[in-house]
Amino acid sequence: MRRIKSPDLLVAESGADLEGHGLKRSIGPFQLVCFGVGAIVGTGIFVGLSDTVAEAGPAVIVSFVLAAVTCIFTAFSFAELGGAIPVSGSSYSYAYAALGERTAFLVGWCLLLEYGVSVSAVAIGWGQYLNELLENTVGRQIPAALADAPGHGGVVNVPAIVVMALAAVLLVRGVRESARATAAMAVIKIGILVLFCAIAFTAFDSGHLSPFTPEGIGGIGAGASLAFFSFIGFDAISTAGEEVKNPRRNIPLAILITIGVVTLIYCLVSVAALGAMPWEQVGGKPAALSLIVDHATGSSIGSTVIAVGAVVAIASVVLAVMYGQTRILMSMSRDGLIPKVFERVSPKTSTPVANTWIASAVFAVPAAVVPLDVVLDMSVIGTLAIMAVVNICVLALRRSHPGLSRRFRVPLYPAAPLLGVVFSLYLMYGLPLVTWIQFAVFVAVGALVYALYGRKRSRLALSGPPEAPEPGRESPRTPARV
Ligand code: ALA
Repeated sequence: MRRIKSPDLLVAESGADLEGHGLKRSIGPFQLVCFGVGAIVGTGIFVGLSDTVAEAGPAVIVSFVLAAVTCIFTAFSFAELGGAIPVSGSSYSYAYAALGERTAFLVGWCLLLEYGVSVSAVAIGWGQYLNELLENTVGRQIPAALADAPGHGGVVNVPAIVVMALAAVLLVRGVRESARATAAMAVIKIGILVLFCAIAFTAFDSGHLSPFTPEGIGGIGAGASLAFFSFIGFDAISTAGEEVKNPRRNIPLAILITIGVVTLIYCLVSVAALGAMPWEQVGGKPAALSLIVDHATGSSIGSTVIAVGAVVAIASVVLAVMYGQTRILMSMSRDGLIPKVFERVSPKTSTPVANTWIASAVFAVPAAVVPLDVVLDMSVIGTLAIMAVVNICVLALRRSHPGLSRRFRVPLYPAAPLLGVVFSLYLMYGLPLVTWIQFAVFVAVGALVYALYGRKRSRLALSGPPEAPEPGRESPRTPARV
């Protein structure tokens, strides 16, 4: 029989924790949007834009729109689920309520790719921009052996390890300070991208946008899969469920505002970038935004400003996404699916200290020794698989819990979540075969861990018979803490 946890139980459990040693509700809607922007805008646009351009040419704009559309459909689903089940576990908790424990465990397992491994990718991107900044300011770079992965001219990526350690220090000091730092960084990164657009538009030449689709439809699709990395993290907002004021209203609102703002910025940056320089001269180039600004102004001051912005922007992504990872691990630990150490909250700081240090140490390993393209593709495929499952969760929960209190409801139901599934699968299709094979192995290992550990220690299984509500029947309401 499937082990399903009702939405009421999930909310009641998270509320119960607040009675004693739980997390503080301290985050408002503005902070939450900043947190979302902080989680999203980073390596994808600053480092990955040029690779996306290499795939799609000027039609990179269409690639970004395709990736954004996938996110928007899925964001609606996150908004509905985040408003109805405002707990820290995000897609993991939704899958527990809608599809059962086994799927939830596998979603939690894939969240290690979406959060943990993407932090590794982002940290590698941060190291590249740090080097660019050092070159521009002190005329020296960190030696290659200490700045890249084996096989890419390096031995170990020290800057990537350093930025992850810094994020861990901030996170264990408490969510208030972390959220405030993230908000400041979000404002800075938007400012830098707006500055980039303002400069690049002074050199705009519409002739650079033609031919518009030099790599054809296939190029646009492959570009969309890469562009998707720039959007990863929007759902981190829903992992803050237990620390948000009035979560049923503020979580859906913040998700929708965040995705709108970020999509607008990415499209503007793409148009500005490709209007300023022929796409062949941008495609595949490192630090492409700096290159374009130099080209537009004829001075190297611009590239330094952009490098500073990128270092700040990317560091804030590390902070925000690592925060999300720790909260998901907390949820899984509470459920008995992973060891108890991950759910312990320090009474002194009200943060999960051991959890944060363990997660940071584990994901520092791929950051230190795996090449960027490998971690990036793995992160994208894992995230897209989760997006597909989240859209399915909306469909399943509407059937199993029609009377559930939903602050926000997906528009155009059931077309929107169905299109969310289709778009997610389409973007997965654009990834290389080797990534599919690596992903299949990763999921198989996850299934094994569940069978050997999680299944036996599950608190749901130990605390009583599994709940498997019949479709259309509502469980008794438990007052939700909001
Ligand atoms: N969306 C995040 C970034 O682009 C992962 O850095």
